[in-house]
Amino acid sequence: MKGVILAGGTGSRLYPLTKVTNKHLLPVYDKPMIYYPLQTLIDAGIKEIMIVSGHGHAGHFLELLGSGADFGVKFTYEIQDEAGGIAQALGLAKDFVDNDNVTVILGDNIYQDNFKDAIQSFTNGAHIFLKAVTDANRFGVAEVDMSNCHVLGIEEKPLRPKSNFAVTGLYIYSNDVFDVIKTLKPSGRGELEITDVNNHYVKEGQMKFTVLDGYWSDAGTFESLLRAGTIVRQHR
Ligand code: G1P
Repeated sequence: MKGVILAGGTGSRLYPLTKVTNKHLLPVYDKPMIYYPLQTLIDAGIKEIMIVSGHGHAGHFLELLGSGADFGVKFTYEIQDEAGGIAQALGLAKDFVDNDNVTVILGDNIYQDNFKDAIQSFTNGAHIFLKAVTDANRFGVAEVDMSNCHVLGIEEKPLRPKSNFAVTGLYIYSNDVFDVIKTLKPSGRGELEITDVNNHYVKEGQMKFTVLDGYWSDAGTFESLLRAGTIVRQHR
């Protein structure tokens, strides 16, 4: 299993905090934001990790994180030239992932749960992790049938969410995800959407899900950034 941290994008919702630096380098309590998803992958037993970032800040990630030796893992760095979406950024990791499966984590997602079991028992298809939230319309939202553990469909930021289950930013995919990405068309906001990738696996009957027990927060808005820091501090 390879790991990929997606740390590109413009961070426009956090402007002007992101005017001269990358969102994922901002502090969440006492650490740079990217340390949290990195620790999530390391705690899951992943040893080879690619960091995808955008132009302008790639050198800062290298300065901060180095080769990976300090963390007991190996880092590879990749640049996403323009903000073309999460799925496009993942597509850049194709050669790095090679013939392995891949766990992808968004660089602004902060988890308490440990994913070792889910990753070690993963065989094929895809696996997403859901969290019940009160503001589901900010996220990808999964409609699920709890009686047979099926995902029925996922909608990206729906006006009227069909459930309160946010699709959080950690995804496990089999190697064929790179073929799926090649078939995607840009969405209304001009991006290749991870939700379209996920719905491919839903349609194929190849999508599994887990509902998270621990806390989870994104950190891409002023409110969620503050909340993420507060949650981390409370649980330290
Ligand atoms: C992205 C995904 C969304 C997911 C969220 C989790 O949204 O598109 O499906 O629920 O991350 O943080 P973004 O925060 O990039 O708008």
